[in-house]
Amino acid sequence: MTLTRIQRAAQVAGKSLAGRDTPFIFNEWYVAALSREVSREPLARTILGKTLVFYRKQDGGPVALSNRCAHRSFPLDKGTLVGDHLVCGYHGMRYNELGEVIEVPSQASCGGISIRHYPLVEMGPVIWIWMGQPEQADPATIPEMPMLEDGWVTSEDYMDLKANYVYLHENLLDLTHLSFLHANTFGTPDYARADFDVQISDTRMWLKRYVMPTRLPPVWAKPTRLEGKDAARITTSDFVSPALHIVHAEFYDLALAESERPDQRIKTAHIPTPSTATETHYFVVHGRNFALEEGDVTDFMHQQLMAAFQEDVVGLQQQEILMAAEMDDNYFEISVKSDAASVAMRRYIKRRANEEQGLITTDAPASSTAPTAPAAPATVGNIPVPV
Ligand code: FES
Ligand SMILES: [Fe+2]
Repeated sequence: MTLTRIQRAAQVAGKSLAGRDTPFIFNEWYVAALSREVSREPLARTILGKTLVFYRKQDGGPVALSNRCAHRSFPLDKGTLVGDHLVCGYHGMRYNELGEVIEVPSQASCGGISIRHYPLVEMGPVIWIWMGQPEQADPATIPEMPMLEDGWVTSEDYMDLKANYVYLHENLLDLTHLSFLHANTFGTPDYARADFDVQISDTRMWLKRYVMPTRLPPVWAKPTRLEGKDAARITTSDFVSPALHIVHAEFYDLALAESERPDQRIKTAHIPTPSTATETHYFVVHGRNFALEEGDVTDFMHQQLMAAFQEDVVGLQQQEILMAAEMDDNYFEISVKSDAASVAMRRYIKRRANEEQGLITTDAPASSTAPTAPAAPATVGNIPVPV
């Protein structure tokens, strides 16, 4: 097959974007697990291609070690937790929480044997992990999750996504898809055509969409009591880091003056932690600042949201299956105006990954690849941003 000029240019532009073949970024804090998942029962989980074992010490503190026994690669999660120590289930080497072998049953000394342990920080409903260079692990750089502040009600969940994490970030940065992929849950037909603004900095990308007047879907209309009313639905997609995306939304009755509107906002943390190139741990922490005393609202919203997010999981898996089958020399993708933020995000992730690999490459000159540029430029304030 011969590509057209436009398709060839799109293919060249695509080489500067992160995708399923891009190496992981290690020097970031990622969410390793929900707090409730880590217990006195060892838990095995693959993160950034490394298999780890998690458990809690007797004082409740979480521990993460490499899951591979230094002796003969037996998985340590199949061993036994004794006090604060993990005893390998094959020949009985005993590890402390720092990954140091403190007993070898067949000999008197341990000879300085150890495996890697990983720094963890437990914050609210999640446990963060540092997989990068140990000397760079600084808890002060853990990204904030503002829905965990006082006065907000939250719920959390986990999904096993059979797709690369970059495409989940991309999904979240352009909610055009609400009108189509979520047509039967929390999308509305007017969503895709609503006005939006884009903001892009070196490390952060936002897309803010103004859907008004609109009729809210049940997940928002019921708890805000805006059923049947002309409402505003203003949503910001915020790429915070390779490990965290936060969706902010506010809802109000357009018939009310600004001073009369109740403050009704939600913030949802979408937390993609890469497992392998084609699998992602997809954590969600959702919060709201209204209907605070109504426990049934928490259950209702949670159930409705997770049903919608499951549509993303299915859609992204279908995308992954197709890419795995057809990503050959003729592969290309055409970007449009609403991809401005996600294209910037994919360039950023690719740059970060290349920097860690020591392979900084020269990006293709996007301005000369017109086919992937939007009809009108995205803007940061009033500054045009090439896509
Ligand atoms: S494989 Fe773990 S002690 Fe031998
Ligand atoms: Fe979605």
